Amino acid sequence: MDIVCTHEEEKLFATIGEKAAALGFSCYLIGGFVRDKLLGRPTKDVDIVCTGDGIALAHAVAATFTHKPHVSFFKNFGTAHFRQNGIDVEFVGARKESYSEHSRKPEVSPGTIEDDQRRRDFTINALAISLNADNYGQLVDPFNGVADLESKIIRTPLDPDITFSDDPLRMMRAIRFSTQLNFTILPEIFEAIHRNRERIRIISQERITDELNKIMAAPKPSIGLDLLYRSGLLREFFPQFVALVGAEIMDGKGHKDNFYHTLQVIDNAAGKSEDLWLRWAALLHDIGKPATKRFEEGHGWTFHGHEVVGERMVPKIFKQLKLPQNDKMKYVARLVALHLRPISLTKEDITDSAMRRLLFDAGEDLEDLMILCESDITSKNKQKVRRYLENFELVKIRLKEVEEKDRIRNWQPPISGEEIMRTFGIGPSREVGVIKTAIREAILDGQIANNYDDAWQLMMEKASELKLHPVQS
Ligand code: CTP
Repeated sequence: MDIVCTHEEEKLFATIGEKAAALGFSCYLIGGFVRDKLLGRPTKDVDIVCTGDGIALAHAVAATFTHKPHVSFFKNFGTAHFRQNGIDVEFVGARKESYSEHSRKPEVSPGTIEDDQRRRDFTINALAISLNADNYGQLVDPFNGVADLESKIIRTPLDPDITFSDDPLRMMRAIRFSTQLNFTILPEIFEAIHRNRERIRIISQERITDELNKIMAAPKPSIGLDLLYRSGLLREFFPQFVALVGAEIMDGKGHKDNFYHTLQVIDNAAGKSEDLWLRWAALLHDIGKPATKRFEEGHGWTFHGHEVVGERMVPKIFKQLKLPQNDKMKYVARLVALHLRPISLTKEDITDSAMRRLLFDAGEDLEDLMILCESDITSKNKQKVRRYLENFELVKIRLKEVEEKDRIRNWQPPISGEEIMRTFGIGPSREVGVIKTAIREAILDGQIANNYDDAWQLMMEKASELKLHPVQS
């Protein structure tokens, strides 16, 4: 395995090596940078470890640039950082480290490069490259990280119980790397995650969710989500998702396992879009199913209203997982609420009015809703899937035709609430809402045309029913 660096990087590393030598330290490239270079993946951050004061080294290197970058540092942790020519460089002194049982605060003392490598999370992240004159560019690999990179294995340098107990976030990281890189977590390491799963409770939800989102952003999120479930970690912070697991059978009638169905839907959506929030909508589309599950005699399992229950669960889950409480959340809730609508339009005899209603309700999210809905078509029966998808294509064509004709998406009815209030000399009130809704519904149902005159006429009729009279202007 070879490493290819840019000219900028090479110049920077040579300077770091020289400055470390002048200070009497050894220094090394370490961590994700080395891993990703060896894998030929794009790299962002450079981590440097030295046997000495990392802050002093950072200042010495920064001082060599014509435009000296600002060096930020944390004395307590002995770390320093600067950004130069778009490269983020982080310096740290090699450490021996152990964590106390109830917090993430380490007790630290200076150590050798091997001490430092030993206390890192995985062998593939513990690889170092020397920047010292005597063996410049040489790999320092006491824990066989290169062999694990080649065999695509995730393994801890130390006994995994120690590595995970030192920093339980590493359990999430193991699963995240396994998902991103398509690597296997060794069985004994996976067992240790299962054993230590409750330790995740000392980690902040923000950091857990950060890893979860990296899993969701990977090409095949189901790999990580399944590992999270099987390790027991998922139950610790997201029990509502685990509640989807399992398929019950009654009177010989079963239903599909909604957890594994959901994983398939997420992967399908991930194959069609990179959008993280669309993937979250896929994750949550059936979240209301456990609460609405019923067995109806002679009929089988039903989940009536699960899309409404699911929509209501979204804000609570976003809060619990410390996901943003903003328009992204509203978007996810909207898609969950609407996820059954397009498929219901595959039945025969669907009117233009049903099409108009979906165009109006989904508005600018229509394309995403269609991706979600298409991703939701999962079945072991290939013919069934094909038939559904064909019908679905027809719905897409009809939606396009109706939209071209009626321009309903992102549409506002021709008469606004303001105009109703002005015409009848009234303030905000129930009557305004009644008239507005009547106009909107009549247009969506095709009872009146989508134009100002027809809307005005209907407003007058409704107003007279409500005993409202226009004011003279
Ligand atoms: N590290 C660790 N334990 C952690 C976090 C990080 O041992 N909980 C070490 C690993 O050696 C890791 C390095 O610190 O390679 C840098 O960490 P970070 O930047 O978080 O991750 P990367 O490995 O660089 O990967 P990515 O950028 O994909 O997060």
